[in-house]
Amino acid sequence: MEYLSQFEELKEKEMSLDLTRGKPASDQLDLSRPLDSLNIDSYISDGVDIRNYGQVKGLYECRKLGSKILGCNEEYVWAGGNSSLTLMSQYLSYLCIQGVGDGPWSSEERVSVLCPVPGYDRHFFLSESLGINMIPVPLTGQGPDLNLIRSYIESDDSIRGIWCVPKHSNPTGETYSKETIEGLIDIFSKTRKKSRIFWDNAYAVHDFSGLEVLEDIFSIAKKKGSEDLVVEFGSTSKITYSGAGIGFIALSQTNQDSFLPFYSALIIGPDKLNQKRHIRFFEENELLQHMRKHADLIKPKFELVQKWLSGQEYGSWTRPTGGDFVLLKTKPGLAKRIISLASELGLKLTPAGSTHPYGVDPEDQYLRIAPTACSIEELDSAMEILVCCLGLANQDN
Ligand SMILES: Cc1ncc(COP(=O)(O)O)c(C=O)c1O
Repeated sequence: MEYLSQFEELKEKEMSLDLTRGKPASDQLDLSRPLDSLNIDSYISDGVDIRNYGQVKGLYECRKLGSKILGCNEEYVWAGGNSSLTLMSQYLSYLCIQGVGDGPWSSEERVSVLCPVPGYDRHFFLSESLGINMIPVPLTGQGPDLNLIRSYIESDDSIRGIWCVPKHSNPTGETYSKETIEGLIDIFSKTRKKSRIFWDNAYAVHDFSGLEVLEDIFSIAKKKGSEDLVVEFGSTSKITYSGAGIGFIALSQTNQDSFLPFYSALIIGPDKLNQKRHIRFFEENELLQHMRKHADLIKPKFELVQKWLSGQEYGSWTRPTGGDFVLLKTKPGLAKRIISLASELGLKLTPAGSTHPYGVDPEDQYLRIAPTACSIEELDSAMEILVCCLGLANQDN
């Protein structure tokens, strides 16, 4: 009853709140404002006029910046436009249309990718929109369940890849262990046809304190002679500007040679002025120090989420050490109900099921909380609503 009366009271407040997307708040974006007024002293870089077309792989210094963020050798990295998702869609289109030596994916009756769950909804939309079949695999806290992956691959030749968010995973927050990385490479190097590990390292330097270590997958893969298995992605979207940062793709020399003609047909050159601004910005601002400023702004928000969740008795939830999300696991069958109750109170939550391929969370129990975009005051109200709806849904049940 207590939750019901609180629900009615909250309804009268007619609030409008949003915990859906992991976007930086304005104060985080303001950290990179000096980017806008940086003086570009010379328009010549890498021997070209950066205002012109060309340099498809990006400016050398910007590729170096990408390698610093991703933690891999600079020779693997290209610097692109403002979004790593665009690079993912371009690389996947290349696999579907051209392929990597054993025919285009689109010519096969069925091509599947493994999707560690709970995972990132846009990986799922992208795969689905390209007609790629998706097979969920549970995450264990140290990466996906390798035994299950091994058994799937042994029995299903259509499996040709896996989506991974290896550090501060969206939305579970976990970081893959070295054993998981080695296991993934060992398993995927045995697929009958060529496969790819899509290593979306979107939260590579996004630690709240200290630096959580993620092993460099390229170094491990190289030792095993399997560099071509890996395609890594990342960006400055959650470092500088989400809509106006730099996206990166990292791939072996063989994969670069094969992908370059396709990629060059799609783009005539990235925005090198923005790349130059980013180079200059990180000459003046040390990357990890800049990330600490982000952490200082968002840590109180994550603490507030923990405070609200620990002050009640339902569900279990993650305690991330970086990244953008808290994942709340309810009793089976309650997630949709909670989201619908919250929406009655003016709180938007990510749709139930969005953490799973095809939007289907079979147990209807995962809620992704994205606390960064709103102010502390808004977050406080949003969490009050969430906790009330969580309580009410559990009491109804
Ligand atoms: C795992 C993951 N990959 C990629 C992105 C988006 O990256 P970009 O802005 O570089 O396209 C996000 C954004 O939330 C994300 O969580």
